[in-house]
Amino acid sequence: MTEAFDAVDIIRIKRDRGTLSPEQIDWTIDAYTRGAIADEQMAALNMAILLNGMDRAEISRWTAAMIASGERLNFSGLGKPTSDKHSTGGVGDKITLPLAPLVAVFGVAVPQLSGRGLGHTGGTLDKLEAIPGWRAHLSNEDMMRQLADVGAVICAAGTGLAPADKKLYALRDVTGTVEAIPLIASSIMSKKIAEGTGSLVLDVKVGSGAFMKDVEQARELARTMVALGRDAGVTTVALLTDMATPLGLTAGNAIEVEESVEVLAGGGPSDVVELTVRLAEEMLACAGVTDADPAAALKDGRAMDLWNRMIEAQGGDPRAALPVARESEVILAPADGVLVELDALAVGVAAWRLGAGRARKEDVVQAGAGVRLHAKPGAVVRAGEPLMTLLTDTPERFDRARDALAGAVTIAPEGSRPARRLILDRIS
Ligand code: URA
Repeated sequence: MTEAFDAVDIIRIKRDRGTLSPEQIDWTIDAYTRGAIADEQMAALNMAILLNGMDRAEISRWTAAMIASGERLNFSGLGKPTSDKHSTGGVGDKITLPLAPLVAVFGVAVPQLSGRGLGHTGGTLDKLEAIPGWRAHLSNEDMMRQLADVGAVICAAGTGLAPADKKLYALRDVTGTVEAIPLIASSIMSKKIAEGTGSLVLDVKVGSGAFMKDVEQARELARTMVALGRDAGVTTVALLTDMATPLGLTAGNAIEVEESVEVLAGGGPSDVVELTVRLAEEMLACAGVTDADPAAALKDGRAMDLWNRMIEAQGGDPRAALPVARESEVILAPADGVLVELDALAVGVAAWRLGAGRARKEDVVQAGAGVRLHAKPGAVVRAGEPLMTLLTDTPERFDRARDALAGAVTIAPEGSRPARRLILDRIS
């Protein structure tokens, strides 16, 4: 087959800060997916994009080409609005678990196609797989049936959605080119637009435990993604939320499910409840439902009923005991005072090293592993009191987990206050 363009010419254009034409972008994505552009050429192009950026029109076309590389789902036959949430990833971020059933209570269908964790951020599917019997893989027909009958589904994204992104993301992961705003925005939005949701709320994390370490970068990523959603006809809103410290009191798999169930039972840590309710309000408003009271649906059991049905529909037993780690080790507060900092990245890396996450795609995660926090920033602590408990099935992991936590905790004199807001901005 004669190729329309030459990969080296395309690389040179971006290397020299030029602009790619729509035809060049379409060809690049298609040729890479077919194997006509080699990994080393795509890696060079990704690096040129990371260093020199892309303009709005290029990002929009790049996203459209990734969508066109695979199938596109269509929920218009459901007869109800659809809304989805995507988080850019954080530590202790279990919000999808209570959020999907909570939004579905109000008649808005939630097709939540999720991923597994890689590195220090956990994956929603790994968490749910801690529930005995629960299945992550559904056919498109089963997913559609569950959305019609139950209203919410959290499952693995099929291989047919944006296959170009799967190949590109794996390459970016090993070539130091993940952190490019045009590439992150197009990667996330191509999958969400191909998934067919009518509206989308983005939770863009900011802080040590997130991709975006500072608020300005996060704002730019959020603006780029909101514009891509709007161009594709998907109502899109973004919240910028704090990821300097973990969300809730757990980072792991089974322990995050347990905490999510507490939230669905009307309890749970206040930050998890606040973010769940706020994201539910945003999703419902995007879907045209403005008179709902999600906080009440957490308190009165409606969200829990929907959760039970959602888990059962995928073979899970929502009442079964969750796996528990065989070994634990407690970390004590080193001094009296106020806990002003508890670093999200350090806790995420510790949970990962304990076995809750994977270093390579093929690794198996431990359902019971993770870190349970006994205090959050703002709490008064006393020297010798438990600060956190490390959990694993394989005790030889404790040393490296403890190393990850060195310097993660700052205790200041009583009267000090941590500077922390959970919701930092909203972009629409
Ligand atoms: N999540 C994605 O799906 N893609 C990225 O590029 C980064 C985070």
